[in-house]
Formats: sequence, C-alpha cells, structure tokens
Amino acid sequence: MGFEVHFRTHTCGELNKEQIGKQVTLSGWVNRRRDHGGLIFLDLRDRYGITQVVCDPERSAEAHRAASEVRSEYVVQVTGKVSQRLPGTENPHLSTGAIEIIAEQIAVLNPSRTTPFPISSDTVQVDESLRLKYRYLDLRRPGMRDNMVLRHRVVKTIRDYLDERGFLEIETPILMKSTPEGARDYLVPSRLYPGEFYALPQSPQQLKQLLMVAGLDRYFQIARCFRDEDQRADRQPEFTQLDLEMALVSEDDVMSLIENMLIVLVEKLTDKHMKQQPFPRLNYKHAMDRYGSDHPDLRFDLPLVEISDLANAGNFGVFRNALAAEGIVKGIRVPGAAGYTRKEIDELTEFARTLGARGLVTLAMNTAGEIKSPLTKFMSSEEVQAIITRLEGQPGDLLLFVADSSKVANDVLFRLRSRLAERLKLIDPNEVAFCWVVDFPLFHYDEENQRYDAEHNPFSGMDEAHVERLDSDPLNIRAKQYDIICNGFEVGGGSVRINVAEIQHKVFSLMKMNDEQIKEQFGHMLEAFEYGAPPHGGIALGLDRLVMLLADEENIREVIAFPKTQSALDLLMNAPSPVEDAQLQELHLQLRPQPKPQS
Ligand code: AMO
Ligand code: AMP
Repeated sequence: MGFEVHFRTHTCGELNKEQIGKQVTLSGWVNRRRDHGGLIFLDLRDRYGITQVVCDPERSAEAHRAASEVRSEYVVQVTGKVSQRLPGTENPHLSTGAIEIIAEQIAVLNPSRTTPFPISSDTVQVDESLRLKYRYLDLRRPGMRDNMVLRHRVVKTIRDYLDERGFLEIETPILMKSTPEGARDYLVPSRLYPGEFYALPQSPQQLKQLLMVAGLDRYFQIARCFRDEDQRADRQPEFTQLDLEMALVSEDDVMSLIENMLIVLVEKLTDKHMKQQPFPRLNYKHAMDRYGSDHPDLRFDLPLVEISDLANAGNFGVFRNALAAEGIVKGIRVPGAAGYTRKEIDELTEFARTLGARGLVTLAMNTAGEIKSPLTKFMSSEEVQAIITRLEGQPGDLLLFVADSSKVANDVLFRLRSRLAERLKLIDPNEVAFCWVVDFPLFHYDEENQRYDAEHNPFSGMDEAHVERLDSDPLNIRAKQYDIICNGFEVGGGSVRINVAEIQHKVFSLMKMNDEQIKEQFGHMLEAFEYGAPPHGGIALGLDRLVMLLADEENIREVIAFPKTQSALDLLMNAPSPVEDAQLQELHLQLRPQPKPQS
C-alpha cells in the first residue's frame, strides 16, 4: 500500500504464501458469502483484489456469529491469521489464491442494502441507465475498476513522457470565450455583466497558441473540453483531451513525438501489438478513395474500388441514374463470399439502406467462375468482366456496389467494410493499427452558408507555396494538418499553425467574417501575432477515445467515471435540472415559454 492506514494492514489483493502465519487485518466489501453449515466463507473484495476469509466456530465463535449476519456488499473488517489453503482448494485465477485468512474478529463497518444489480460479476448484463444511476456501485465491478486504473496509468505515462521532454503542464480557464471548433457552445450567464456570457472551452486552442507567443515553448494539458453536439458512441458533451503545443516545430516533429508516445503507451500498458511501425501516412485523398473515410481502419485491407468509368457501359439504370446525378459507383470485394444466402445478402442490403444507400448491387462468382448478378442483364460479358478485373475478383468472391453521391457511397461502403471484416473474422482483437492522415485541404466549401470553412480549424497553417492561393484558389490549398487514427477512430488531430496576422486575417475573411467580427472575436490573436509569434504547432488527442481503444471498449462511457448518457443526461445527479427563480433573476435571465408538446 505504500503507507499505513487505520483500518487495515494489507489490501485484499496483496497476501500470498510469503505471509503465511502472519496476523493481518483486512477491510473490504463482501463479494460473496457461502455458508457451509459449519464453516462460513467470505470473499472480501477491494480495489486490489479478493481474499478468502474462513470463519470457523471452533476458532472463533464470535467471528462466526458476525459472519452469519453479513450480506453482500457489507463493509467489514477482518482480523486473523494467513493460512495455506488445503491442497486442491487453491484458486490459480486469484493473486491471493494460495492462501486464506482464518478469522479471529469480524467487525461490520457499515451494512449495505441489496444492490440493484450484482457487483460480483461483470458478465451479468445490466441496463446501462441503471448502471449510470448507481455509478458508484457500477465502479465497484472489476471491469470498470480496471478501466479506471488503465486511464490513470495512461495519463500518468503521458505526464512522465512529456515532462521528460521539457513540456510544462499549464492550466487554461474553463470560463472562457467561444472558440470556433465547429460545435455549439455551452454558455454560462454572467451575473456581473447582464446579458453577457462566458462559453465553456471547446478546446484550449487559442490559449495554447498564446502560450507559444509567450515563449513557454512546450505546453501540454489534460484538458476538459465541452461541445454541445449530437452524441454518438465515441462522443460526450464533455470530454478530455491531451492538448499540446510546441514552438519552433515542423509537422514531422509533432508527429514523431506523438507516434513515439503512443507506442510507449501500447507497449507499456497493454498486451496489444502494433500492426505497423512506423505508422503509415496516408494522404487524405487516397484515404477517401480507398477506404471511403479519413479515419480508416487499417487492421484489414478490403479496399473500396471506384468503377464509375466502367459503370456507364451497358444500360443499367441504377448505375446510369447515379452517374447522371453526378454521383459515383464504387464497389468492394468480399473474398470467398459468393455463397452468401439470400438472407445474408438481404441483411447487408438492409444495413446499407439504414446508412442511406438505396440498395446494394451484387455480383457473385461461384468457384466454377459462373456469374450471378443483375449486371449480366444490362451489360455485355466483357463489360462485366472489366468490372470484375478492376476489383480483382476471384472465383468464389462476392462483389458489392453502391451507386450514389460520393458522400453516401463512401459513408456506406466505409461502414460496410468494417461490418464485412467482422463477419469474415479479419480482425485480431489484440492488434492496434495506427495511421496518420495528412495532406488535407485547408478549406471545404460550405454550400449551405455559401462560404469557405476550415477543414480542421481556422488556425491551421498551409504550405508556403500555397499562401498566394488564398486569393486565387482557396480550395487547392494544402493544410499543414495531421490526424492520428487508431482502428478506424480519429483519436487526434493537429496542425502547424498560422503565425502571421495578415494570413490569419485572410483566412477569417474567406470564412465570410467581416473586419468587425474578426476584430471582436479574434482581435487578441491577430494582435498577439504582431508581437513576435514564433512558428508553432501542436495536436490534441481524444483521451477518452484512446483509453476506450486500449481497454477494448466500444463506448467511451465505459472509460469515464461519471459520463452523460447518449442524450446528454447525468442520471446520477439528475442534471440538467431547473433552477430557482431567484437564481435566474440574479443572472438577469427570463425563460421563454416552451411550446406545448403535441399530444
Ligand atoms: P479536434 O476538434 O479534432 O481538435 O479534437 C481533438 C480530438 O478530441 C476528440 N474529440 C472528442 N472526444 C469525445 N467526445 C467528443 N465530443 C469529442 N470531440 C473531439 C477526438 C479528436 O480527434 N484544438 C484542436 C486540436 C489542435 O489543432 O491542436 C482540436 O480540438 O479524438
Ligand atoms: P431496384 O431497381 O430498386 O429494384 O433495385 C435493383 C437492385 O439494385 C436491388 O438489389 C437494389 O438493392 C439495388 N440498388 C438500387 N439502387 C441502388 C443504388 N443506388 N446503389 C446500389 N444498389 C442499388
């Protein structure tokens, strides 16, 4: 334990054969109680493990009597002797499995009501809302405890790694001004300034850049960020970033620092192995073409292949209509799947439909090379063969095609690709595949608002040779941006920044901000750049996502002690909740009447 405390001499995960004969005191929760008539066995549990306690009336009638009263989850203190378990009763799965404690005294420190779900087993499926309402009980379960321990280790390893490399951990405010990371802000009304608001930070982006202007050179923070956006399995309204910034660096410097840190984390804290080292670097366009996404899962191959040029041949309405609407036709080869049944194909088609596709065109080639596909009705055999060749189809394969806008076709095939990889058992659960995605465009065009919008954030720098395109050809500017991807999840992103006021001003103008808005929102940044702002760059990693992947969880809520639900509710404390009218008054707020829900 490292230091002595009042209620125990050892933890429940500590004792082994070396302490046999020793008098010890343990305190913990009753994981299980087994009454064998004569003997009562208690499994005593704490954060560190489980120790078996034996209560023998012949040894201590008093301890036996106390043990007969206790129930699951009572907190008890046990004093007794460490004793070797009888041969054949050892438990090799427990670190303490060779010994047991012969109880001399048992004190109930606090009883427990019957818990709303069993604590002693992770395997029992419990409704998540119940787990969240009683999170303090859920966190007693071994799986959750392990996740909290892993998260701590990850953060500790990161802190040590960065400290060794000269980084300073610096806190930035939570009560801040709105920052443009692209999500909706959480606002905090100001009491002292009626009608004015703080915003909770979506990230410490601007402040970390100002720390570089300040000459602090290497900054990091385990930073809480707040974004009011649609929730998904890998998103929370408040989440944690490892946020980092360095002065006088190139993209490569930041990338190699982070790459090396991720390797240390995986090697030190998990049993996983790395698919590829150094991490592959994919260019954005290549990633979109080949995987349909800028966060591809590289644990398996299954590339997407575009056939738009071949799909115009023949007279297949599904293909022709999509192409006529400026869409694309793209396919994927499913090796050895020619034998999928109607039902299996229908399931995949339904899956594609739920993702927005209008359907799936199939082409099955049995092992004799015979082709079954709607395409054969509308195309010559040469035309069909050209498509098969493009996809490198082999006898026994199934080919699937989506004809749609490039966005829908890519989104659908990106997800279908992962679904198929699971089905074909191409994923090794102990493998992690990191990659970098680079060469992003600086801007995309936002049709709805008729303006350019930053692909990452408006502070990303650009290739020097491309600066003049700010005036002539903004969509063809390459950003000095890099995203880090793990197993198909974007775990981080960053860039080398703009440090010249004039260029930064131009970027804001292209985003359709007028001079006044720029001055009001970002005047402090532009001004700072005029006082000797060094070249600088950085990155932020989604810590929750990273720990989720290292812990093999499918949801970030599993690695957050007190998360919000998918619908942004805190079920433990019941937030959000109404406040007293007096509080609203103090804040100079008046609630708008809500439209009555239609009944
Ligand atoms: P970005 O917006 O890409 O970059 O965020 C960095 C990483 O944070 C994680 N993340 C989230 N995790 C959980 N819930 C969310 N709602 C959520 N949103 C983002 C992702 C993401 O890759 N200031 C820049 C970084 C920089 O340029 O240095 C930024 O915030 O893993
Ligand atoms: P339909 O013409 O709607 O009867 O569809 C014929 C076949 O093509 C069905 O198997 C559909 O699943 C499939 N299909 C229809 N539209 C598309 C599309 N846009 N992309 C891919 N497959 C499609």
